[in-house]
Amino acid sequence: MTPLHQINYAGIRLWLKHDYLCPTGSYKDRGAAVLVNRASSLGVRSGVEDSSGNAGCAIAAYCALAGMSCQIYVPAGTSPNKLRQIEAYGADIIKISGTRQDTSDAVKHAAKTSTYLSHIYDPHFYQGTKTIAFELYEQMQGNLPDQIILPVGHGTLLIGIWHGFSQLMELGLITHIPELIAVQAAACAPLYAAWSGSETPGSLPTLAEGIAIARPPRLKQMLRAVRESNGRVEIVSESNIADSQSEAWRHGLFIEPTSAVVLAAAVNLSLQGFLAERTVCLLSGHGLKSVC
Ligand SMILES: Cc1ncc(COP(=O)(O)O)c(C=O)c1O
Repeated sequence: MTPLHQINYAGIRLWLKHDYLCPTGSYKDRGAAVLVNRASSLGVRSGVEDSSGNAGCAIAAYCALAGMSCQIYVPAGTSPNKLRQIEAYGADIIKISGTRQDTSDAVKHAAKTSTYLSHIYDPHFYQGTKTIAFELYEQMQGNLPDQIILPVGHGTLLIGIWHGFSQLMELGLITHIPELIAVQAAACAPLYAAWSGSETPGSLPTLAEGIAIARPPRLKQMLRAVRESNGRVEIVSESNIADSQSEAWRHGLFIEPTSAVVLAAAVNLSLQGFLAERTVCLLSGHGLKSVC
C-alpha cells in the first residue's frame, strides 16, 4: 500500500500516489513479485528479462529473494544507477547497443533456451500492477477519482490498472472506470499516434527512458483501456519533462523524468481545461535512479 496524498502543484490540486516508494524504487515491484513467485512455484531456477532499467531492477530483486538467477538485457545507454542496482541484486547484465527495440529483439533470441520472465508478455505481471486499482479503491473509500494520469510505454501500468478496475466493476463494487490519461513523450508516442490518428516523430531519444517504446506489442489493449475508460492520451515535450522534474523536486518529490511526465501532463490538461476536479497522478519511479 503506497501512500496517497493531496498537494497544490503549480496552482492545481492533485492527489499523488507514491509508487516510487516500492522496495526497488518503482511500481514494477508489484508485477515482478507476482511473476517471480509464480515462476518459482513452477520450479523455474533461472530466467532472462529485458528492460529499460526499472523492470530489470524489480525482476533481479525478486529473483534474488527467490534464490533464482537471472540475466537482464538492457539498452547500453540505461541510467548507470539502474545498472548498479541490478548488479547489486546479483543479476547478470547484458548491454545491447541501439534502441530499446534492439534490446527486445536480443532477449527474444535468448528466451529460446531460457525462461522469459517478461514483464510485457507474461500475464502474471499485470496481476501485480492491477493492485494499484484496488489500493485506490480502499484509500479513497470507494469514492474513486475522476481521472488517473500515468506514464505509458509498454502499458504494464495502464493495462494493469484497467484490469483492476474492470474486476471491481465485475464484482459490482464500482459503476465505472476512472478516466485513464496515458502520457507519452512526444519524441516517442505510438499510442498517441494510434489514438489521435496523427503522425509522430517515431522514436527519438527522450529523457523519459522508461517509456521510449516505439512498437509496444500490446498497443491494441492499451488503446482499449484508454477508450473504455473515456480517457485520453497526452504527449509532453522534452522541456516539459525537464521542467516538471525540477518543479517536482522543489515540492519535495524526488522522482525520475519518466515519472515527472504525469505532472507535466496535469499542467497541460489544466491549461486546456481538461483536468478533472479529482485527479490522481501516479508517481512511478524514484529520482535516485536518474542522478549520478
Ligand atoms: C518509472 C516508470 N514509469 C512508467 C513506466 C511505464 O511502464 P510501461 O512501459 O509498462 O508502460 C516505466 C517503464 O519502464 C518506468 O520505468
